[in-house]
Amino acid sequence: MIAKVQSATLQGLDAMAVTIEVDHYESGQQTKFNIVGLPDSAVKESQERVQSALRVNGYKLPNKTVVVNLSPADVRKEGSGFDLPMALGVMMSYEFLKIKQVERFMFVGELGLDGTIMPVKGILPISIKARELGYEALFVPADNAREAAVVNKLKVYGVHHLKDIVAFFSGLTTLEPTIVNTREEFYSQMFSFDFDFDEVKGQGNVKRAFEVAAAGGHNIILVGSPGCGKSMMAKRLPSILPPLSLSESLETTQIHSVAGKLKKDTSLISQRPFRAPHHTVSDVALVGGGNTFMPGEICLAHNGVLFLDELPEFNRAVLETLRQPLEDRIITISRARYNFTLPCSFMLVASMNPCPCGYHHHPTRKCICTPAQIQRYMNKISGPLMDRIDIQVEVESVPFEDISKAPKGEPSAAIRERVLKARQIQMERYRSLPMGERAQADESPSGTGGRGSRIHCNAQMTTSLLQKYVQLDDAALKLLRTAMQKFNLSARAYDRILKVSRTIADLEAAERVQSHHIAEAIGYRNLDRDNWFE
Ligand SMILES: Nc1ncnc2c1ncn2[C@@H]1O[C@H](COP(=O)(O)OP(=O)(O)O)[C@@H](O)[C@H]1O
Ligand SMILES: [Mg+2]
Repeated sequence: MIAKVQSATLQGLDAMAVTIEVDHYESGQQTKFNIVGLPDSAVKESQERVQSALRVNGYKLPNKTVVVNLSPADVRKEGSGFDLPMALGVMMSYEFLKIKQVERFMFVGELGLDGTIMPVKGILPISIKARELGYEALFVPADNAREAAVVNKLKVYGVHHLKDIVAFFSGLTTLEPTIVNTREEFYSQMFSFDFDFDEVKGQGNVKRAFEVAAAGGHNIILVGSPGCGKSMMAKRLPSILPPLSLSESLETTQIHSVAGKLKKDTSLISQRPFRAPHHTVSDVALVGGGNTFMPGEICLAHNGVLFLDELPEFNRAVLETLRQPLEDRIITISRARYNFTLPCSFMLVASMNPCPCGYHHHPTRKCICTPAQIQRYMNKISGPLMDRIDIQVEVESVPFEDISKAPKGEPSAAIRERVLKARQIQMERYRSLPMGERAQADESPSGTGGRGSRIHCNAQMTTSLLQKYVQLDDAALKLLRTAMQKFNLSARAYDRILKVSRTIADLEAAERVQSHHIAEAIGYRNLDRDNWFE
């Protein structure tokens, strides 16, 4: 008989329902599988796992050809999640198993050779789709059950082994649906960070720069000798950003789900992601793509932080691919087989040594680089990328005695309070913009600047908004002019200084940008000064 079992496959960040039809007919001497309907290689390999799992569990297949049709037939099917529904289809086709009203259920899971059910990627979008299409229950690998159960109004059953499903549908055992109290869990874990700024001793000016960056959504670069604490501080940025909203969390979790990067037993990601790809990362790994689609690091960092440690070591061509996503906060990936658009709204944190040997400007160690070598090193970082970094800060090493003696620093929670207040002011300001000046994108208040072209924070101000919201008095204007001349700052530094000064004023809840705000913002343009190489 023809058996039909419902399953799903991924299409970018979304899932699509797939019906698996199984039939068999007389043919040659041995059991054969014939899978049709644009299966990729992982799907084709299913037949080996399915046959083995059935045999090990005592189901002997007659010497016939089993036809498996994946419908709709014109969409490419990926992954190993069809193993379980295919095995059930074969059993039903041979009448080893009966599932009443099987059309009300969806099944996804990879099979081990003995019938163990193993986790698969992308369960969250599949679960969302199953609810949308009105399925009564979704059967998933036990390790994916909590991820699937984020979706309400859908029964989720996590199963360990093929025989558990058989026993359940034969009425021999019962299965308990997995229930997750998503909201409660999410809010209870929201502030449990692995790292806190109170562990950073000294470095008051750098911590302040991070506070300003977090408050205005500004990208930031840290320049300093090895071991001065750049990576340590960067890792702590998520702890001072506004907490994720539930809808932001769902977006980010979905991306991590599709990439198979969710930790076991995670339901929703409750903190902003921190991604730190190594400098040998390929462009595909950074922005996403590949033969079978995978989201890249920039999408995994969505609503969080992307940290590029040792920036000059990255391949220049790879860094160039960041320009458009930094600007648009979405990335479109087009290949012959697919065309997907994904969100990638992140804050960029970069770090670098001040020179090849690492000790230029170091208080105690001598730098052995020539000015030309330093110049070449600095030139390695791409201009267009530097153009999108508002805050440049020099990090000095804290001497060991000071680190051991120094008291604990200010905790992240206290810094986050101030950041949140400054964000609130920005939300109010940009909310009042007429629709023409802010675009149509979504409403979620993002800690990283938000998706689409809608403005949430100072870092996203256009030149016309800068003119509107940063009107300097005479004293501030004079200071800025003098600094521009004295340090020979570029025109591109000018806009950055204005933007950052707006954030500094917002941290003080000051309506107008004043001289001392400008003065601090000028201090965040270390790399623009033409005396850097001396
Ligand atoms: N200000 C500091 N307070 C406390 N520990 C520090 C500080 N600076 C550096 N350290 C210690 O030094 C280690 C190395 O710092 P790291 O962040 O890796 O340096 P970098 O990335 O600049 O090379 C840190 O893991 C931390 O243990
Ligand atoms: Mg480091």
